[in-house]
Amino acid sequence: MEVCTTVTQVRRALAEAPRPVGFVPTMGALHEGHRALVAAAVAGSATSVASVFVNPLQFGPGEDFDAYPRDLDGDLALLERDGVDLVLAPSADELTPPQRRTEVRVRGLTETLEGAVRPGHFDGVATIVTTLLGAVGPDRAYFGEKDYQQLLVVRALVADLQLPVEVVAHPTVRERDGLALSSRNAYLGPEDRVRARVVPAALAAAADGWDGDADAARARMRSALDVEGVAVDYAEVADPETLERREGRTPAPARALVAVRLGGTRLIDNAPLPVPEAAPGRQ
Ligand code: PAF
Repeated sequence: MEVCTTVTQVRRALAEAPRPVGFVPTMGALHEGHRALVAAAVAGSATSVASVFVNPLQFGPGEDFDAYPRDLDGDLALLERDGVDLVLAPSADELTPPQRRTEVRVRGLTETLEGAVRPGHFDGVATIVTTLLGAVGPDRAYFGEKDYQQLLVVRALVADLQLPVEVVAHPTVRERDGLALSSRNAYLGPEDRVRARVVPAALAAAADGWDGDADAARARMRSALDVEGVAVDYAEVADPETLERREGRTPAPARALVAVRLGGTRLIDNAPLPVPEAAPGRQ
């Protein structure tokens, strides 16, 4: 496995590399969720690339940029074991030098849910993902559904900027008790780790008895979350493509999305709500 710290090195290393090139961008602190993306990239590509970069542009003031878990040696050992061919692990100065002028903003999709709670977050994500895609030039890039809004933002920027890359979505990887894997789970103390089960439980409540009624599904999520008394940033039912809030009953698929704060830790998760089955006698 080759480790590059600059974009020039990556471009040189990939100039003659067999295609397709599959790319997994990460912020490190790798867990089984990342490993599932890496396994898909390794299996589906002639050359697999991962990046490890804690992107300062996507953290707001007072967020956990400094505390974000970092373990480059551990991450590199894991990526090597998992068969990755090349890793880009750049410095902040390499990818986000102070003189940079360009920002990528995906309008609309980024103003709701995570974007409303974390203003500027998706501008930072969109800017760095565009930068990374330009640096690596992959044929396919892999993103987890755990960050569902991010996945839609990336799909939108790739479509709008006509980038020649296929965005591949991977289902969320979960702990045995349903908690979605996240690097931020490492912040949870033992008691909050147990309380965190309420997040997948709320999503299960939304799906349980889902008949297309978004208001009822939101109410079920709120009741489930109330059991643990967590601070709820949102518990929403939205259009799965535009993320517009669903109102009332609609015979169409939707997405349930939750964000809570537990102690000092923010957890997000989401689940599909399929096309509701028509109840007998109802049109
Ligand atoms: O999902 C992440 O880890 C990050 O948001 C990403 C896509 C690597 C951009 O920094």
